[in-house]
Amino acid sequence: MRPNSPEPRGSVTVVVLAAGKGVRMNSRIPKVLHPVAGRPMLLWAMAAARALEPERTLVVTNPAQDGVQAALNGEGQTVAQREQLGTGHALAQVSAAHRTSGPVVVLYADAPLLRPETLKHLVAEHRKANASVTLLTASLDDPTGYGRIVRSRNDAFRDIVEEKDASDEQKQIREVNSGVYVFNGQLLWPALQKLENKNRAGEYYLTDIVRLIKGKLQTVPVHDSDEILGINDRRQLAQAERVMRQRILDGLMTNGVTITDPNSTFIDADVSIGQDTVIHPFTTITGQSVIGEDCVIGPMTQLRDSAVGHGCRIERSHLEKTKVASNVMIGPFSRLRPGTELADGVHVGTHTEIKNSRIGPASSVPHFSYLGDAVVGANVNIGAGSITANWDGYEKNMTEIGDGAYISCDTIFVAPVRIGSDATTAADTVITKDVPAGSLAIGRPEIKIVEGYTARRRKKKQVTRP
Ligand code: UD1
Ligand code: MG
Repeated sequence: MRPNSPEPRGSVTVVVLAAGKGVRMNSRIPKVLHPVAGRPMLLWAMAAARALEPERTLVVTNPAQDGVQAALNGEGQTVAQREQLGTGHALAQVSAAHRTSGPVVVLYADAPLLRPETLKHLVAEHRKANASVTLLTASLDDPTGYGRIVRSRNDAFRDIVEEKDASDEQKQIREVNSGVYVFNGQLLWPALQKLENKNRAGEYYLTDIVRLIKGKLQTVPVHDSDEILGINDRRQLAQAERVMRQRILDGLMTNGVTITDPNSTFIDADVSIGQDTVIHPFTTITGQSVIGEDCVIGPMTQLRDSAVGHGCRIERSHLEKTKVASNVMIGPFSRLRPGTELADGVHVGTHTEIKNSRIGPASSVPHFSYLGDAVVGANVNIGAGSITANWDGYEKNMTEIGDGAYISCDTIFVAPVRIGSDATTAADTVITKDVPAGSLAIGRPEIKIVEGYTARRRKKKQVTRP
């Protein structure tokens, strides 16, 4: 390649620094695994990196921190930093084999609000200027905690000074280091070896490298300073959550979803919602949930890892790992637990709990029932108060109810048991054996009528009605 010719696309190496102790989080969980809008911080950094279509992505991790490797789910190559001696030391763990001469993008895994477009812009500016270092900076009203950008009289970038080492005068500087850098690989790796830890923290600061690399050092300002928020404590975690949540809601509203009260609506990053669906207040939709078009969800509804088709109405209910087809009505006050599948046109009414059960098309469970481990056919009506006794104290047992069955109020199914299609159960019947198709099961004691009872009782008790 000719000197100064632009690097071909795809030759970028990204290094994500994720091995820090995260002391200020005061947590047993590694800092980079704390979620923002349902996604571990580290995976936000990985998503930003992906947008660059890098040749390789290296993730510097602390092998003693559980769960970090698993969260990556095979993405990127990990580089171990066994002792946490600073950001410069973390980058220096990259082995000779990965020390490429092309652009090296360094990201901190504790900055989840960085937009992929900003990162792409930074790399483009780096290539355009053929710079040795390109830094992303931001101006903050409160720069406390960040490395300050020191400029010379003519405004040229000169240095980064960490908060701990800054003079009172330098602490007044509002322009800060984001922790997002693009380096010329040829200059980066040799300079890294020269870093020292002579500072207040006794750490090898990556930021000191700007004093060791020659050539063009440039800064690129970010317009939306929220993007560079570094999360070091739980207050900053909450701040990031708020910004990310607003971004997600804005994106959904742009795509034609009505959010009646964004302040009381919480939707995770990996949720998708179709056009003309309305989300009412105090609703939380998390995990890998998918909601179709023309639904009305909420108020006061929680959906977790659930799929909902089109035209559904879900009010004041909890759904977890539940699949709902289209034109289904749920609630108010129902709880659908993992493994529940509702077919088209199902109606689940008030105070109903369903777990690990399939309910067939147009069937109805309208009032306070419990169905566990049940397979219910199409056009079945389950009367109020019906319950599957699915647990015999040792194992879970199945209840099968055929198409068109009519289950009267207060039927108890002592599982395992089968109800044939078009069968009927009488109210207050305990079903302890299979019911053949088309037949009636009635198991209640015959009613006894005692004539004149009320008058006799009143006389005895000498109670007079007003
Ligand atoms: C760092 C920058 C500061 C910048 C700020 C932006 C340095 C010296 N300072 O400060 O200029 O304004 O980020 O948010 O770089 N890490 C490791 N190994 C280590 C230490 C840290 O992998 O030994 C990782 C952490 O997991 C984290 C990142 O590096 O993802 C940054 O470390 P952190 O301790 O948060 O640095 P800050 O004090 O925020
Ligand atoms: Mg930080």
